[in-house]
Amino acid sequence: MSIIARDNRIFVLETAHTHYVVGIDADGRDRHIYWGAPCDPADYDIPPVVCENPNHPALDEMQQECTVFGSTMYRDSVLKATFADGCREILPVFDRAAVGDDRLALHFRDKHYGLSYTLHYRLFPDSDIIEKYVSVQNTGTEPLVFARLFSGELSFPSPEVYIIQNTNGGWGGEYRPTQTPLSGGTLVFESRRGISGHNQSPSVIAHHHATEQAGEVFFAVLAYSGSFKVSVNRDVYGVTRAVLGMNDHDFSFTLPAGQSFDTPRLYAGHTRGLGEMSRQLNRLALTHLLPPAFRDKPLPVLYNSWEATGFDVSAQQQMRLADIAADLGVELFVMDDGWFGARHNDHAGLGDWQVNRDKFPHGLNELIDHVHRRGMGFGLWIEPEMVNPDSDLYRAHPDWAYHYPTRPASELRNQLVLNLTRPDVQQYVFEAVDALLSEHDIQYIKWDMNRPFSETGAENLDNPQMLYYLHTKAVYDIVDALKAKHPGVMFESCASGGGRSDWGALSHFDQCWPSDNTDAIDRMAIQHDFSLLHPTKVMRAWVTDIAGPNKPCSLEFRFHIAMQGALGLGGNLTRYTPAQRELCRQRIALYKQIREVVQFGDLYRLADANEGEALINEYVSRDKTQAVCFVSSRGTRFFKKRMPIRLAGLVPNRCYRLEFQGTTLEKSGAYWHNVGLSVYIRGAEYNEIILLRQTAL
Ligand code: DGJ
Repeated sequence: MSIIARDNRIFVLETAHTHYVVGIDADGRDRHIYWGAPCDPADYDIPPVVCENPNHPALDEMQQECTVFGSTMYRDSVLKATFADGCREILPVFDRAAVGDDRLALHFRDKHYGLSYTLHYRLFPDSDIIEKYVSVQNTGTEPLVFARLFSGELSFPSPEVYIIQNTNGGWGGEYRPTQTPLSGGTLVFESRRGISGHNQSPSVIAHHHATEQAGEVFFAVLAYSGSFKVSVNRDVYGVTRAVLGMNDHDFSFTLPAGQSFDTPRLYAGHTRGLGEMSRQLNRLALTHLLPPAFRDKPLPVLYNSWEATGFDVSAQQQMRLADIAADLGVELFVMDDGWFGARHNDHAGLGDWQVNRDKFPHGLNELIDHVHRRGMGFGLWIEPEMVNPDSDLYRAHPDWAYHYPTRPASELRNQLVLNLTRPDVQQYVFEAVDALLSEHDIQYIKWDMNRPFSETGAENLDNPQMLYYLHTKAVYDIVDALKAKHPGVMFESCASGGGRSDWGALSHFDQCWPSDNTDAIDRMAIQHDFSLLHPTKVMRAWVTDIAGPNKPCSLEFRFHIAMQGALGLGGNLTRYTPAQRELCRQRIALYKQIREVVQFGDLYRLADANEGEALINEYVSRDKTQAVCFVSSRGTRFFKKRMPIRLAGLVPNRCYRLEFQGTTLEKSGAYWHNVGLSVYIRGAEYNEIILLRQTAL
């Protein structure tokens, strides 16, 4: 990892296996030179900009790191600003470069106006991922208004048509992958909903039919939880570029004189194979992204009462569930929705964060003490960004929700979004959660958010189109402030399932709820697709009672799917038979033995149930001394009997022992990679957990 600066003109960002090369041309413009497998750094040069045809101005062909709107550049820009005199073009000149061991900053300023901007880069040890983002400074005396304030631009090196991978998911079916060849024009993936949402992904992946193991993959994730836009274009010369950032839909951003602003971070990488992309992102999240307090700690096995009790919670019933959960080995008991205000269903109560005394006559501490006495931590659900019109909060402050006085408010799930850009609303939300955490010994907060924005009037703002950003920032700031005051509390990000599971959320929350769909068969796909761009550790996965006659699925099968993330239980434990409880005990005990490998290890997706008959995931510890392989199938077809499982990620000349169906086998890593284990997959709910341990060096 190093940054090679040639003549203060060409900068080679050398990662573990790649070069990312940027330059400054004779006109002082930033230029993207190359991204991919390393070459001799001395060979890189800045291609000339030669105007050949007035219909195709050469400036428009340039590959840049940060296209600004102006002149004859018609492609998607990263920055577009309006100056006080009405000029809407930026004309940059290069100021200087600041080169460090792992950081590069390229400073530019407008030739005429008081605007400066900086392109920031950061490298990480043993990684091919680069952090990049743009910061802007208003060095003038008048406000600057940005119509576009993206985080950055990427150019992919091949002239051949790339397949652009993103998602087309929805509630209950998040992260469903799409692959679209982009031969020309522009592909846009975005959210306009105020949160990153369930549908498309704030990321870009470009490749030429890459597989898990092979093929060049270029990718980037945007660390931002608000409305986003990813725009990928292929021009007439075969250049494929992407710009990513805060969505410019219903957006403008005023930067007052003297102030600066950092755009959300982009994490961009280049790997061989999609599997290595996921492993590099996983490692970066574990070493750099996730909030530090719990980054290195294994996440506890939790119980969440939502699917068992819905809104109908009570002290006695929760204590009964807690008794059983503790007996099974659960470490954290989380009470979900329904404990506060007049919350008997989803029509009332949001905003009134006081305990419902009919349901909890002695307050929450009775339950919390009960849970603690059984050796578990206690967690609580809240949805602090929301208000039901039927609530004391709304009756007192109807103006606290986003609204237009002349437009009817859309009450999705009977609730409205609080205007979190208002300091008084921010203070209310902070104080409400702070009071809960100060008055009770709580270890965990599940922070939910169950509807997109609408009627986004915010008359408190001079520029109301900044609300999407300001709201997102307020969520981050409140969570950070709560964590600073209550450092022992973990936070989970939830938005009707996976509506806020992006890399921005994961820089502030310790884990996320990937989907409300807890059907283990559907989860085989959801979790597989989640794993592409998300760290394993943050993925909360519950064993629930969803398993009907149409989708038979044993309790053991459900466990084996949920054990591939941060395990939780969510069923009605009071209805479990003694045999089912014993199975829970055994599986939870096993999970505790293997969770370090699952939560912190490298994931190898050996088979995908979306495409074949089995889901096979192998997790290898970072020191490569242990591995866990989960094999799950809903049944094979065509009388197939044996399937070879060729393991991955082991050290070829080390010896590994595995126990499989009563037999102990001891072979080299090379053998497990090349010959593998022959598994007889049969039955409608085949599932197996294979443990490998290194025996000698
Ligand atoms: C949506 C979440 O995704 C669920 O897990 C649950 O917390 C409900 N909200 C509660 O209203």
